[in-house]
Amino acid sequence: MRSALKFTALSLMALLPVACGPSGPSANAIGGIGAGANNGAGLGTSDILFAGILSADAINPNEVTVTWTDAVILPNLGGAITMRYQIYRGLDAETVLQASALVFTTEPGVTSFVDIGLPDNTTLYYRVVALDTDERFSLTTSVGNARTPAEYGPGSISYDSQILPLWSTPMPGAPATNCLSCHTLPGAGQLDLSTLQGVLAGIGTLQNPNSFVIPYQGEASWAEFLARMSALPTLFQHLPYLTAPEGLAAMEVPIKAWIAEGALAAPDSLPPVFEFADEELAGTYFGSFLDFDTVSVTFPHAIDPESLPFNGSVAGQLEYAVYAGVDSSSIYWDKPVALITVDLLQAAETTVSGTFDWTESDSLVVVIRPLDASGRGVPFDLATYDPETATAQELENFRLRMRNQASNEREMIINR
Ligand code: HEC
Repeated sequence: MRSALKFTALSLMALLPVACGPSGPSANAIGGIGAGANNGAGLGTSDILFAGILSADAINPNEVTVTWTDAVILPNLGGAITMRYQIYRGLDAETVLQASALVFTTEPGVTSFVDIGLPDNTTLYYRVVALDTDERFSLTTSVGNARTPAEYGPGSISYDSQILPLWSTPMPGAPATNCLSCHTLPGAGQLDLSTLQGVLAGIGTLQNPNSFVIPYQGEASWAEFLARMSALPTLFQHLPYLTAPEGLAAMEVPIKAWIAEGALAAPDSLPPVFEFADEELAGTYFGSFLDFDTVSVTFPHAIDPESLPFNGSVAGQLEYAVYAGVDSSSIYWDKPVALITVDLLQAAETTVSGTFDWTESDSLVVVIRPLDASGRGVPFDLATYDPETATAQELENFRLRMRNQASNEREMIINR
């Protein structure tokens, strides 16, 4: 009923190794204790006072930390240091209630667990049950969940290996001549195509560029490129290229993709992060209803210094995918409710904001995930994307486009 995405996650799940616990001595516990708990030797009891899972948070694409607070035994409220805990994991809130969802049993007195080797871009549901020394277990059914971010995938275009060689495209009818024949200082052209700086500065300077390259805007840059090449009087220098355009046609795809990814020297290799620890940003992550069906969200800029474009502006650098759900466990991860980009105006502000429609409930939970531009070359249109009817190719494009999300995000709770 959901979609092929869900199915992929399920099949991945089947391949998952049994989770290993926190490193160190407790990892030894897997065999013995796990087996005991699995065969149902224990008995459920309400004598154990236990609130169950406290939190489940993805710390990277493949790991989730689960925490809880001590369980105690009634009536004396003792036993916390001897209590062990069973961790259950499932792909939905029902499966995690079953005995077969058990993935780990801790050493006595432990109150957190790092689940490793998980599939990326997947929602995982967790339940924690307390186990006393008599193998009696708490009747805990509270469930928490965490969403692992997508696995990092750098940009697809390297300037040196995919763009620079394009400038050696021979002129039709004059194979000894290519772009660099005229566009290498001190050659005939003012545009220096022999260095990346030259391309980015264009016929201006690096400080004050005048180039066909408009970072992040592949289509617009390509149109600008063709327009500048065919502008008079330059047209005559370029005429052979323009009248037999196979050479130019071969440049289109890589140039567009390179610029869509930010026109960087090397593909970005790190995801953006939110600096939640920065005290100056306290209180800047929030949302509210603007009217009965419009929600506005405000949040600080995430940072991704290694992908800052040459003009130094964060305008267009990151996109913010907004995910929403009626509550924390029902956030719809298969499609964001909005994709917010930062324009020149917002680039100068401390916070970013955007709006989206919401009619489902009076209260909702929102998570913002910043994305770098590594996937921007991938064709994708949020307005027409429907995960329920999408083809395998469209689902894959969505996954590629939405990769490189920060793994440190927060939930915001918004009430009407
Ligand atoms: C025969 C010499 C010659 C060749 C070969 C040539 N150009 Fe040019 N090109 C020029 C001249 C002259 C100008 C105008 C001066 C300038 O802008 O550098 C120009 C201008 C341009 C401009 C516009 C600069 C701007 O921003 O206004 C672009 C873009 C350009 N060339 C790209 C290319 C590319 C790409 C190739 C190879 C496919 C190429 N040129 C091949 C001579 C040449």
